[in-house]
Amino acid sequence: MATVAADPEDLFAPEVIADPYAYFGRLRETDPIHWNPRAEMWIVTRHEDLVWLVRHHELFSSAVIRNDRRPPHPPIDVADRPLFEEVRAFRSDQLVESDRPPHQAMRNAVHEYFTPQAMEGWRPFVRAAVAELLDGGEPQGRMDVLEALAAPLPVRVITQMMGVPEEDREHLRHLADRLLYINRGEPDRMRFLMEGIEGMIEYVSPKVDERAERPGDDFISVLAQAEGEGVFTRHQVLVNTALLLFAGHETTMNLICNGTLAFLRHPEQWERLRADPEGAARLATEECLRYDPPVKSTQRIAAEDVERRGKTIRNGDRIRWIMAAANRDPRAFEDPDRFDIGRQPNPHVSFGAGIHYCLGASLARIEGQEVFRALAERFASLRLETEELSYQPSIQFRSLTSLPVAWD
Ligand code: HEM
Repeated sequence: MATVAADPEDLFAPEVIADPYAYFGRLRETDPIHWNPRAEMWIVTRHEDLVWLVRHHELFSSAVIRNDRRPPHPPIDVADRPLFEEVRAFRSDQLVESDRPPHQAMRNAVHEYFTPQAMEGWRPFVRAAVAELLDGGEPQGRMDVLEALAAPLPVRVITQMMGVPEEDREHLRHLADRLLYINRGEPDRMRFLMEGIEGMIEYVSPKVDERAERPGDDFISVLAQAEGEGVFTRHQVLVNTALLLFAGHETTMNLICNGTLAFLRHPEQWERLRADPEGAARLATEECLRYDPPVKSTQRIAAEDVERRGKTIRNGDRIRWIMAAANRDPRAFEDPDRFDIGRQPNPHVSFGAGIHYCLGASLARIEGQEVFRALAERFASLRLETEELSYQPSIQFRSLTSLPVAWD
């Protein structure tokens, strides 16, 4: 029987989802700025090009959802088109989807809350949360890293930063899970997404009123205060609170799962970490971020015609830049396919670059460092329970669906 050849431009093909490094690595070496006719977008894969592109924010707009009038890709149910317009209006007000000058004013308003020094103050909370999550599972000799640790930790930390009561955590985790449908491919995803958006607006609105009157040291107060100063509209406060809830959710989850998997597949690096968990955790976390990045790619839309490597990117064209390929570019990293937890320097682009550089990078780093340190201190014999692992069919995120491990 004749087999149908897989479409080489299908970014959701099972083999591309399973191993983005082979697929995008090939593009990086043969056609580093590649037009994908199926997705109707440019695919940029070299480290040098990616950094150049992201730093030229005047040429490449982040307001993709606002400026791109094409129907959603992958397609959604026709009946959900009105929902898509509501989602578009919501997302257009996100920091990550905005350009200068408004982006700069919004970013300045929240920057101070997220500085590396300020985030260091959260390390004891993160350490205690990791310990508490692991204490529960340790006597059982096995756990699903995703369910037991990677999923609950970021929500616990971010809801604490929002200053919401502990009993509301589960509700917010549910909403964060719904908001993640932004990056999924299911045709009915708009319904789940709207549920998350409406739930967030309903939950956060009264909190903003409260904090505008009686500010605390949480970040809803920071946003409420910026609203008072005319930097944010109320809608922008609500949208960006939702952004902060979900921007650090699946991303940090993936750092924890993908990093743990990298250690399980490289026992000699696991032994290296175990020899000095506290000392090695910082560089090791950077290498986990580089080697199997939580965010595989993100996008821009051209604001002008741009020439690069003999290609013409036209005003209005979509561009997707692939960190998973740039982080393995041999022009930027020695022996790039090797997982080496002492790697230095390590100029990975897993948090992006330029004006939209991840606001939560310091927090994510602390969460990664504390998790890898704690795992190495507790579980000398950590091992994978199955080789049958699978990833969410997402072009943006590198998300394991589960990670069962065991120890003696
Ligand atoms: C390992 C975890 C994380 C990774 C890999 C990651 C990755 C990224 C990347 C690649 C960008 C740039 C997007 C672009 O240029 O289009 C970004 C932006 C952003 N991230 Fe993260 N992130 C992580 C954790 C977090 C956390 C914990 C938070 C919040 C507490 C957060 C909040 C944000 C925000 C608000 C932006 C938008 C910044 C702006 O547009 O100025 N992220 N992140």
